[in-house]
Amino acid sequence: MLACRVILFLAWTLHGSISCINLSPCSLLHGASTNMDVHVLSSRVLRPGDPNSAPSKAPLTVFDRFASNIYIAVLFAFSPPTPPNDALIAGLSKTLLLFPTLAGRLDDSRRLRRPCLIVGGCGGGALVVEAAASSNLSDHLPLEVSPDFQLLHPSPASAVHVFQVQLNRFACGGLIIGATAHHRVADGQSMSIFFTAWAQTVRGAFVDRPPVYDQSWLKPRCPPHCEFNHWGLEFTPLNSSSVNQIDVDPSEITNMLIRYSADFIQKLRRKAEGKYTTFETLIGHLWRKITVARRLEDRVQTMVRVSVNGRTRLKPPVPNEFFGNLVLNAYPQATAKDLIDEGLPGAAMMIHEAIRRVDDRYIQSFIDFGELYGDEELVPVYDVDGNVLSPMLEVDSWLRFRFEDVDFGGGGALRAFLPTWVPFEGLVMVLPGFGEDGGIDVFVTLLEEHAKMLRQISHSLD
Ligand SMILES: *[C@@H]1O[C@H](CO)[C@@H](O)[C@H](O)[C@H]1NC(C)=O
Ligand SMILES: *[C@@H]1O[C@H](CO)[C@@H](O)[C@H](O)[C@H]1NC(C)=O
Repeated sequence: MLACRVILFLAWTLHGSISCINLSPCSLLHGASTNMDVHVLSSRVLRPGDPNSAPSKAPLTVFDRFASNIYIAVLFAFSPPTPPNDALIAGLSKTLLLFPTLAGRLDDSRRLRRPCLIVGGCGGGALVVEAAASSNLSDHLPLEVSPDFQLLHPSPASAVHVFQVQLNRFACGGLIIGATAHHRVADGQSMSIFFTAWAQTVRGAFVDRPPVYDQSWLKPRCPPHCEFNHWGLEFTPLNSSSVNQIDVDPSEITNMLIRYSADFIQKLRRKAEGKYTTFETLIGHLWRKITVARRLEDRVQTMVRVSVNGRTRLKPPVPNEFFGNLVLNAYPQATAKDLIDEGLPGAAMMIHEAIRRVDDRYIQSFIDFGELYGDEELVPVYDVDGNVLSPMLEVDSWLRFRFEDVDFGGGGALRAFLPTWVPFEGLVMVLPGFGEDGGIDVFVTLLEEHAKMLRQISHSLD
């Protein structure tokens, strides 16, 4: 769940139940802390393409089936002036012709041997909701993460469409686009390609990176064989009577955004002897700080599921425009004591080594696993998590998504790009910063008492 795990794209790997307020047309919803009131004006379903065409059925790949069975919701905020809703919706209709799977429908009914996506025909479609807020967008900037975010996108809980979007128009003309997409249809990398294409279409620009649907890379070896234990790492073993699920009342879970300046990140990198990427260094830092904030006992084993984009690791590589899922996890782990004792360089090295192990051979073994066991009921490990991951963490990077290319024109600027509120403990999303000096924003979900501690130590270089 974690790797692309998102531009909005929450790594597209958020898991857990996303509880949302059900937006029915014309309901008036009042937000609490930020006083955001959002009024739904209309909703419609876009069904691009010929309704008389014969629907086609595509079985989900083993990578789709590894994606968690949830929607990922992201928010883009644009200051005015922005194009009118009609232009955004007309552009969306056109763009969906290039991305037919986003208007498809999932069929995972038990009678099917393998779950599949049905594209074309008269079913499916993408939901478009238009909404208005009586405040000015500037009243809410910089956007602070809040449960109110759930007012800004259609509810995943009652979703019937794999892609749903809400256009929230503020009094000033500013716009927040809140979009949800089912993770089994697209990972974060894929969604970044989609949002860029939608924005280019609205601007009347050429779509410079159209999606690639070719799956010729998904080829098992002959005979297929697994060098790694994918039952257990990615999927729960058959007939396992699981597990150590931890569930708390969602009100005990909070979301926070930690801002790291470019200068602070340079300090961290120097501390890690400059040997690791910014991402590895920053995750090493946060893994240690969150372990302290959670007050894990010395001998507790803590693990990070780091989502890794498989496209660049396969040989030959798959284009980043491949649309669908191609993400696996790296699994660095250590006891809490070792993690703290070995300092930042040690933590960054563990992450680096684990990511390095997700190579062509590992991914090929996973492809072969899909060939050997595709007819079984595959339950991704995410689906048996409770809403508390501790002592584990799940990490997604949205740093490589070209979010800055998501420009619908009109002259307004992208002012924020965030996941929605997530009532699930243990997620870390690394986002491009919107501060003065660039930097990086990190979205973290923790129990409230641990979040309080993390706020105090998040910038300590110890
Ligand atoms: C929004 O901003 C405009 C221009 O500054 C101002 O006239 C108006 O009162 C503001 N509206 C609200 C609801 O604050
Ligand atoms: C799982 O349980 C089913 C039904 O009880 C049984 O047919 C199947 O052989 C079991 N599979 C494994 C791997 O034990």
